[in-house]
Amino acid sequence: MKNIVMLGAPGAGKGTHSALISAEYGVPHISTGDILRANIKEGTELGKLAESYIAKGALVPDEVVIGLVADRLAHPDAQNGYVLDGFPRTIAQAEALDKVARIDIAINIDVAFDVIIGRLSGRRVCSCGATCHVSALGGSEICPKCGKQLYIRDDDKPETVKARLEVYLKQTAPLIDYYKAKGVLVDIDACGTIKEDFEKIKKVLG
Ligand code: AP5
Ligand code: MG
Repeated sequence: MKNIVMLGAPGAGKGTHSALISAEYGVPHISTGDILRANIKEGTELGKLAESYIAKGALVPDEVVIGLVADRLAHPDAQNGYVLDGFPRTIAQAEALDKVARIDIAINIDVAFDVIIGRLSGRRVCSCGATCHVSALGGSEICPKCGKQLYIRDDDKPETVKARLEVYLKQTAPLIDYYKAKGVLVDIDACGTIKEDFEKIKKVLG
């Protein structure tokens, strides 16, 4: 299986499609955002450091995230393909990744900014790891996967979303050209339903 990088703005659907790829192809879904949030919840040193950056919508320092991902990619389950969600997010992270991994494909989840705002403002998450959207919940606030109460992610407040989008444009969007130059970039127009967009991704992955 392939080593996949998911690119895209906050709320584009990286996590949603990474989870689907993981289930379909049996590769681990490695999300730096999820790892950092788990550390915040557990109150680890890493979590304490990450919390202040995430709350502002800023990026956690490169050296911290690079070390975290390098460790994760050394695990046995990542030796036969993986999907990286939310990493790399800067050119420095991409260059560091190139030193420890061969990326076969970078999927750019391309969504118009007004669509993104709708996706983030309606996002609900569950402690079981599930992500849903209010449009699919019919007024319920209960996780359809496990039955627990859903909640809104702390950094989905409108002012933090604005900061995250600005950081994306400045620091992460240049990665599109970085992977294009390497000949591994695939753009997915992802303004459809989750099912429609995932069909496009499956076609690309084969
Ligand atoms: P992270 O958790 O990676 O957040 P993000 O990049 O802002 O992306 P999101 O998780 O908000 O969006 P997504 O693209 O996964 O969308 P989703 O699938 O949920 O990072 C959080 C923070 O951690 C960063 O701000 C930073 O501080 C830090 N961090 C993480 N990695 C870092 C790194 N490498 N370096 C430095 N700092 C780092 O979908 C959104 C919603 O849309 C859902 O509700 C979904 O159900 C819905 N939806 C509706 N229709 C569709 C559709 N057709 N396709 C997909 N989703 C849809
Ligand atoms: Mg995500």
